[in-house]
Amino acid sequence: MRDSDAHVTALPHIGGTLVEVPEHLLQRSRDRRVALGAPTDDAGATEVPPSTTTSAPAVMQSATPAAPTSTKPALPTLPDLEPEPAPVPEPTKPWIIAAVTRKKIPYWAMPVLLFLPFWAIIFAGTLEPVESDSEIIALGREVYEGSGGCAGCHGAEGGGGVGPTLRDGEVMATFTDWRDQVIWIVNGSPAEAGTIYGDRGSVSLGAANGMPAFGEDLSAREILAATYYVRVDLGGAEEASVAHLEELFEAEEALPDAFEIGLTFPSTINGLLDSVEMAAR
Ligand code: HEC
Repeated sequence: MRDSDAHVTALPHIGGTLVEVPEHLLQRSRDRRVALGAPTDDAGATEVPPSTTTSAPAVMQSATPAAPTSTKPALPTLPDLEPEPAPVPEPTKPWIIAAVTRKKIPYWAMPVLLFLPFWAIIFAGTLEPVESDSEIIALGREVYEGSGGCAGCHGAEGGGGVGPTLRDGEVMATFTDWRDQVIWIVNGSPAEAGTIYGDRGSVSLGAANGMPAFGEDLSAREILAATYYVRVDLGGAEEASVAHLEELFEAEEALPDAFEIGLTFPSTINGLLDSVEMAAR
């Protein structure tokens, strides 16, 4: 430490640490001040050999060796710090020009893009299984489960209860002709218990304990729909076997509002079918 006193300047304690500035750094500082023509308050500055600094002060030194720091000619050397030429605007890159000038969307794509949302909606629609009931099935189910109250006696799925099961072809066995089933629903059970009904000789419970008549409560269309629903949806009949029933259902204007109780098969319904077929021709 004592040996280096000549080259090292000790600074006061900073944060408990003795900071020593190496002599070569101090020297560089002095040189810079001389180069910039600033007056040096450091006594040692005069001893600085100018040759160790940049070339500019060296020239100055030789031109005015007597007092290099007393005059202030060094200031003009400052431009040395800004040698940069005026900034030349960079030429625009070709790919940037291309990006700016190209058409963003070609005109031919416009109709395609306009149609895209509609296509998306249509496409999304095709993803869902089409399970919308036909009108006759929808109305038939509504009658069976709701307004007709059939489900209360025959079961929600037609499995039977107070009334017999309507599933697995049972109804078709009782009424091979759908027109007989329509008449049955219109009139309900026959008055007398023990009366034989249907095509396989079923024995009726009679009006008191049997099935109510629906001729007054349901419209003709509703009874047709319920008949279709019971046969096709619950009973498992082929749709082709009730094609005429569906035809009659569709011919709204040809139908009476209601089938009258006491309607006896099959003249009325046959007459209706005839009129529908005539209208169709
Ligand atoms: C109050 C109970 C009750 C309600 C409501 C009822 N049924 Fe019935 N249904 C019966 C009974 C009981 C029988 C058996 C007939 C008999 O014994 O006279 C029957 C028989 C039937 C049959 C004949 C089945 C066979 O194989 O013998 C059909 C078809 C039928 N009902 C359809 C319907 C429809 C359609 C509705 C609704 C519009 C309905 N029923 C509402 C009690 C009911």
